[in-house]
Amino acid sequence: MFTCGIDVGSVSAEAVILDKNENKNRICTYIISPTGGDSKEAALSVFNSALSKAGIAQEQIESVVATGYGRQNIPFADKNITEITCHAKGILYFFPQTRTVIDIGGQDSKVIKLDPDGNPLDFLMNDKCAAGTGRFLEVMSKALDINLENFAEIFKKTKDKVDISSTCTVFAESEIVSLIGHGVNKNKIIKGLVYSITNRIISMVERIGLEEPVCMTGGVAKNLAVVDALSEKLKVKIYVPSEPQITGALGAAILAG
Ligand SMILES: Nc1ncnc2c1ncn2[C@@H]1O[C@H](COP(=O)(O)OP(=O)(O)OP(=O)(O)O)[C@@H](O)[C@H]1O
Ligand SMILES: [Mg+2]
Repeated sequence: MFTCGIDVGSVSAEAVILDKNENKNRICTYIISPTGGDSKEAALSVFNSALSKAGIAQEQIESVVATGYGRQNIPFADKNITEITCHAKGILYFFPQTRTVIDIGGQDSKVIKLDPDGNPLDFLMNDKCAAGTGRFLEVMSKALDINLENFAEIFKKTKDKVDISSTCTVFAESEIVSLIGHGVNKNKIIKGLVYSITNRIISMVERIGLEEPVCMTGGVAKNLAVVDALSEKLKVKIYVPSEPQITGALGAAILAG
């Protein structure tokens, strides 16, 4: 039996098709694509692309579960489930022992605490402010004219940081533009920015209470500068799935059917 999970986020939409034969979950295929301005259209597009990539007809999919901020707006989904539940479920596929999940997406960040059996115990979510999210890094990457993909290498090779005093994304962007104007080394600014977003996440982790093993999901988990800074400050190893962006959709597919 096949199921499908769809995660429509603010930045990206994902579809995961799962083969549940013999009660074993096996990922058949997945698609990641920008959400764009129409979340309904994005959901349909990743669903159809996943079906054709897997060579599966829509009728063969037993159940579709939607998650993400656009989850209520997907007419072909049988059910929708919150991101907290889906991320918690999805991460256990990759790391069954997980006790803390840090999900940093485009518009929100969440820390989820799991009990020893993998059930969500508690969570904290920052969805009121762009600071501490992928959006913050995207804005700064544009202001600096340096690709997010290069942040990890720059973070690693740069020793000193420039402290960014503004916590608000808009003010931090102006601060950076002004620092660049004053000829401050861009690599040092990046180092400062990465610690700035990291500090936001750490305060959430501290409030909820750190339990190991700690795993990271969401697109920002692909930014190894943030993963390294979090790991350094929290003094723990942080596990990242081979494809961190599909965790929500994978959890939805596992919970389907
Ligand atoms: N290859 C990459 N390298 C560095 N950062 C990346 C990469 N791909 C994505 N990101 C980061 O991931 C963020 C998007 O994450 P994700 O796709 O999980 O968001 P989302 O699920 O759509 O958002 P939300 O859950 O907040 O609604 C981007 O803002 C960007 O900062
Ligand atoms: Mg998300």
